[in-house]
Amino acid sequence: MTSEQDPRPRAVIVACTDGPLLVRGEIDLISASGEAIPRTRKTVALCRCGVSTIKPFCDGSHKLVGFRTDPVPPADRKRDEGIVTGEEAPPDAERSGA
Ligand code: FES
Repeated sequence: MTSEQDPRPRAVIVACTDGPLLVRGEIDLISASGEAIPRTRKTVALCRCGVSTIKPFCDGSHKLVGFRTDPVPPADRKRDEGIVTGEEAPPDAERSGA
């Protein structure tokens, strides 16, 4: 089944600065042993600091331990945000009038 044929809304994962991964949308959450992990909410926060007592979910412990995510290097940030500079743009790329 392709994503165009899948009737479920597309899931989105947001990596929170210094915090969990927020998952919005329909996903199947499966444990390491292959069992389904029940969800009670449409949006779930998944721990990425490793300290939560309710893994795979975040319990807020990342704040207590001062978990920090690495800052995104400027070059990666531009790529991830779809920002193309004049130096990187291909010759036929659309440019703004600025
Ligand atoms: S990210 Fe929140 S407890 Fe780990």
